[in-house]
Amino acid sequence: MILSSEDFYHIRSAARDRGSVRGATHQFYRYPARFSPQFARAAIEAFSDEGDLVLDPFVGGGTTAVEALRARRKCLGTDINELAVFVSEVKSTILRESETSELRSWLPDFERVLKISRTHDTSPQWREKGYFRHLEGSETWRHRNIISAALSEIEKLGCSRLENFARCVVLRSAQLSLDGRRNLMSVSELRDKVSKHFVMMLDDMDLLREEIGDHRGIPTPTILKCNSNQLHEHETVTDAGAPKLIVTSPPYPGIHVLYHRWQVNGRRETPAPYWIANKLDGDGERYYTLGNRHEKELKTYFANLEAIFSSLAKISDHDTKIVQMVAFSEPDWQLPKYLEVMENAGLVEIGSQEADEDRIWRDVPNRKWHAERQSRKAGSREVVLFHRKAKRPTQLSDLPGRDHLGN
Ligand SMILES: C[S@@+](CC[C@H](N)C(=O)[O-])C[C@H]1O[C@@H](n2cnc3c(N)ncnc32)[C@H](O)[C@@H]1O
Repeated sequence: MILSSEDFYHIRSAARDRGSVRGATHQFYRYPARFSPQFARAAIEAFSDEGDLVLDPFVGGGTTAVEALRARRKCLGTDINELAVFVSEVKSTILRESETSELRSWLPDFERVLKISRTHDTSPQWREKGYFRHLEGSETWRHRNIISAALSEIEKLGCSRLENFARCVVLRSAQLSLDGRRNLMSVSELRDKVSKHFVMMLDDMDLLREEIGDHRGIPTPTILKCNSNQLHEHETVTDAGAPKLIVTSPPYPGIHVLYHRWQVNGRRETPAPYWIANKLDGDGERYYTLGNRHEKELKTYFANLEAIFSSLAKISDHDTKIVQMVAFSEPDWQLPKYLEVMENAGLVEIGSQEADEDRIWRDVPNRKWHAERQSRKAGSREVVLFHRKAKRPTQLSDLPGRDHLGN
């Protein structure tokens, strides 16, 4: 048996951990549908050793990248969402002591600028492209004005590492004050949050640097913006060699997650986080979720998933373990379909859990997403799957001598 019961139980208890996401730089941004650092860490410890390469092809908010770094593994993370790449990079790029000190000394001037009430509009190109949508009304224009003032001051820092860190502070504070709230925070609360988060995030960064201080030879995780169906053709990925572990969580079938929008005043969606991160938005919800969640049998979703896992099979070797956490809106038909797609991609399920009741399931705590259909079971449970590359071809059409079988 490839998966020891010790590893299985360790991952199971980490997957079911109900604690809030905290520690290291994990609170820098509330990326939607994150998995827990404990889960990523348990998989990393079970299936890789120090110095090994860990890959997350749907890196999202960078949970895997941060935990791989802390566990002294090399890490490659990829995502199609520029916002995910931004957040993952900031969370896993360790600032030097001189850099956090510089930001601490700069903070009082920054806070003074945020207190001056004058109209800031230094971003006509962002407005023209629609990134201020739903931030121009009577309740929100002041928030946008403060964010504008913050960003124009941040741009004067003149160093992308410092600038990105400071942008992430504004991103976190603005998300807290605007996204998914019944009542918006006042602008003075937003200012206070920026100051408070600035200090908290600098403290978190200093602690993380101290924690990993003696890591010699473990590079900063590499985060790439790309469609993961191309990984076998990406030079950075192929040059890195086969990963020891792929630990990930793909967009979920049939489940609505807003990776690319904040919801202001109820359900009014704004792409403002891209403006704050200085990144470009993609091409609508389907771009981020592998297809249309209303489509019958989710054909596009499963075709895209197969292309991605086929690419992952190509860059893996027989030692590579693939651990995924997936939620289903209708597990009864979607889980068998999902497993069929893995098989078509050239992967086999491993471990002792061939029987469904032995798989690791967990109830999903209050997440900000919901299943397309209103069944309670749907979308409220996640499963952990373990795979590796198949040793032999898994499809009849791949077998040698197919022609001699009379086909
Ligand atoms: C469930 S989230 C991953 C969350 C992550 N585990 C974390 O802890 O933050 C799924 C991610 O897949 C990304 N994604 C969707 N389609 C993709 C594609 N074709 N290639 C790469 N990433 C993709 C989304 O942008 C999203 O960030």
